[in-house]
Amino acid sequence: MSTIFDWHHIHYTEVTSTNDIAKEQSRFFNRQNVVFTADSQTSGRGRRGRQWISLKGNLFLSQLLSADISISNLTFVASLSIAETLCSLTKESINIKWPNDVLVNGDKICGILIESVDNKVIIGVGVNLVFHPETSDIMYSTTDLRSLGYNINPNDFLVCYLQYFDTNFQLCRRDFSQIRQKWLNFAANLNMPIEVRYSDHIKKGIFKGIDEQGLLLLEQKDKIIKIAVGDIFL
Ligand code: BTN
Repeated sequence: MSTIFDWHHIHYTEVTSTNDIAKEQSRFFNRQNVVFTADSQTSGRGRRGRQWISLKGNLFLSQLLSADISISNLTFVASLSIAETLCSLTKESINIKWPNDVLVNGDKICGILIESVDNKVIIGVGVNLVFHPETSDIMYSTTDLRSLGYNINPNDFLVCYLQYFDTNFQLCRRDFSQIRQKWLNFAANLNMPIEVRYSDHIKKGIFKGIDEQGLLLLEQKDKIIKIAVGDIFL
């Protein structure tokens, strides 16, 4: 075990899923924030039960924390912090696709899966540093930093991310509207047509941003509807 800023850091070579490890280990850490990482995952999980292909070289991390802010707000803190990390390490165009897919030049490079255990939150983050999946059942295009010409090792990325995360977390505790504003600066397709899909439902409209709770605002004819869950198609 080592430390990064105020975080305990525990690294594994191979795990099923760093989110599973964070869940299992939760009872050993009361108030201390912990970040679990692994070289690879054998059962990496994505949102809505999807698989997250987890080969060695990419970054797989799970933060275990006792948070006094909502899971929804943490979604925005985490995706914003990843976007800022990518901005500081690359010269590429970085966007966030609601709620928390981080894109480089329009291609997904990072996914975030937030879960809870007891009274704690687990923020699972996967970042494509050296590899991206290219199978036909993935609904979006993907990329990785190495194929864009950047050689960044997982630990350097982690340290940079945690620094942004800590700053944004404190800011969020004081005032979510500032996080919301910073997040909107990265929002993909703001004021443009989007399609939101959730199981069999498809809603089309103009993406007008997010409200104070992080709900997506979709303009349809003369009205604005609020959406809590779904996948955006640009
Ligand atoms: C998604 O976009 O569907 C979310 C992907 C989240 C993947 C990360 S990798 C680290 C952590 N462990 C997991 O099993 N999932 C998350």
